[in-house]
Amino acid sequence: MKGIVMNLLAEFVEQQLGMAAWNELLSSTGYAGSYTSAETYPDEELLTLVQQVSQQTQIPVDDLIFQFGRFMFPEFVQRYPELVNPSSELIPFLLTIHDVIHVEVKKLYPDAQVPHFEYEQENPHHLKMFYHSGRKLCRLAEGLVDGAARHFDTTYSLEHEVCMHRGASRCELVVRTDTKIPVS
Ligand code: HEM
Repeated sequence: MKGIVMNLLAEFVEQQLGMAAWNELLSSTGYAGSYTSAETYPDEELLTLVQQVSQQTQIPVDDLIFQFGRFMFPEFVQRYPELVNPSSELIPFLLTIHDVIHVEVKKLYPDAQVPHFEYEQENPHHLKMFYHSGRKLCRLAEGLVDGAARHFDTTYSLEHEVCMHRGASRCELVVRTDTKIPVS
């Protein structure tokens, strides 16, 4: 995972546990805890840190990964404002992830391993996103969608019945903006 993501993870964990606990976590794992944006770090480092936070907070790993995605979104927008059109809306924005945003990410960081998304759109309020990645970080994708919904101040619902973690070859994230379920 790129250092930019690892640095955001460090900020997220510090926010969750406080500075002292984060420093203890670093000494117990032996990780440096400060990362260079363009460097690549083993995915295990991210997963180990999240697992440790989960043990300390009793928050399940899946929920922490979701919360990390939600935390990441506004941080990404702040760091790469040119990639997120402020006058867009949630679904048109989500349609740009694969062909615009992650393409630009690859230009900035050629060895970035961005996930693969395909789309099926039934109507302007109903988008099916097919997520595929060897990392199976679909909960991170869900959290990023949640962060994007907050950013665009949009009420939405998300269904994720078909999942790589349950044997599917790719996840199906169905986003609807015509429902009345409030953003939690
Ligand atoms: C709702 C919007 C987005 C979704 C759903 C999304 C999804 C993801 C996911 C799930 C990953 C983890 C890698 C994997 O699954 O293999 C990822 C990686 C990444 N994304 Fe996105 N993303 C979104 C928006 C953005 C934006 C706005 C930026 C920056 C402007 C961005 C930059 C990155 C970067 C730098 C990585 C790390 C790649 C690496 O470490 O090699 N993404 N994205």
